[in-house]
Amino acid sequence: MGTSDKIRVLIVDDIAETRENLRKLLQFEQDIEIVGAARNGKEAIEITRQTKPDVVIMDINMPDMDGITATEAIRKSNPSTQTIILSVQSDPNYMRRAMLAGARDYLSKPPTVDELIAAVKRAGMMAAEEKAKLLVTTGSNGGGTGIIKGGLNGKIIVVYSPKGGVGSTTVATNLGVILHSNETPVVLVDGNLQFGDLAIFVNEQGKNSIVDLAPRVDELDREVIESVLINHAASGVKILAAPTRPEYAENVSGDQFSKVLQYLKRMFSYVIVDCSSYLTDITLAALDISDVIILLTTQEIPAIKDARLLLDLLTVLNIERERVVFVLNKYDKRIGITPEKISENFKFEIAVSLPFDERVVIPAINRGVPFMLGEKTHPIAKSYWQLAEIVRQRITKIEEIEPASSNKIGHIFGKFSR
Ligand SMILES: Nc1ncnc2c1ncn2[C@@H]1O[C@H](COP(=O)(O)OP(=O)(O)OP(=O)(O)O)[C@@H](O)[C@H]1O
Ligand SMILES: [Mg+2]
Repeated sequence: MGTSDKIRVLIVDDIAETRENLRKLLQFEQDIEIVGAARNGKEAIEITRQTKPDVVIMDINMPDMDGITATEAIRKSNPSTQTIILSVQSDPNYMRRAMLAGARDYLSKPPTVDELIAAVKRAGMMAAEEKAKLLVTTGSNGGGTGIIKGGLNGKIIVVYSPKGGVGSTTVATNLGVILHSNETPVVLVDGNLQFGDLAIFVNEQGKNSIVDLAPRVDELDREVIESVLINHAASGVKILAAPTRPEYAENVSGDQFSKVLQYLKRMFSYVIVDCSSYLTDITLAALDISDVIILLTTQEIPAIKDARLLLDLLTVLNIERERVVFVLNKYDKRIGITPEKISENFKFEIAVSLPFDERVVIPAINRGVPFMLGEKTHPIAKSYWQLAEIVRQRITKIEEIEPASSNKIGHIFGKFSR
């Protein structure tokens, strides 16, 4: 996208004439390129997400979402993008709020050409520096808590079903066992903080959990993380367990959860998150930064209905369908609602069907031994191998489309809390 050495600028103002004037002021600058214009804060966030400008010139008072709120959101989702606030208000309070929101500069309207160009160039330089810093500390793949230099460029796989009891934990644990190897270490994360049972599925219970990491998300290091993870000796998979008591769940915010996942990406090739069916802040945070979402359904109408609602929601949240692997669990050939019918009805293909097999699945859960550790040739095992292969292929495909992707959706929470 665009020529690389230029400072890429987005103009945000609700008045068309102002946008045009700003564009004119900057148009003859060789090293400045206008990459877009937005009419309010929401549009600004969306266009920033798409075009990743270096500098945003932002008005304050706009309908829908004001410039300060938008600045704050952009600061979070695109930390290297620098915002210059342009306002008719010379009130120091406004200026203070703008700076607190993370604005780089504050100019009063209308700015002179020189003022504006100087501010854009300064901000452009800052953006380049921040970008370079992010590359050094977190590798090329975004991430907020960049303490490990380099590290792995792991992928976050979220296993999710909007309906409970459909098989998320079974799929997460067995997929983890398959994907894990010395070269491609796996961590399983329990995203159901209230009633998570991931550790039980592998017969492991530790006293440490995500709760121990939450207060330290801004100062994570490898040792701290390792001290909290449970080692599943039989498979080699590591586990980040849910809190031991449901009431502790409140001590972990979506933002903290997200930071932990981002750090784990540096330590593991695959970070598999088993999410609760309820759309908590934790689940949303995981969906937000996921690379692949395994969306589960069964042949039951309520599960199918919920999967449909979820797919619609993902569209609203700008999560591309390429990232969703749609899976039918507990598949029973005798039931008339076939995978083909579901695919056709959804206009979205079921990537694989995992057969119903309670004789394999239930004893495995009760013994706390994922069946993929034993049953390697059974039909259900074959379907799981297929799932693992599809996930691997999907990851390769996504990497081709968007090399070094960072935040993809960004503003999931805004959409919910408003
Ligand atoms: N392929 C399968 N065949 C038969 N039973 C299955 C299969 N997969 C999962 N189950 C059963 O479905 C039940 C729910 O599975 P699991 O706990 O993995 O689902 P979940 O989506 O994590 O549930 P929850 O909403 O409680 O977290 C379990 O009793 C499990 O044995
Ligand atoms: Mg579960």
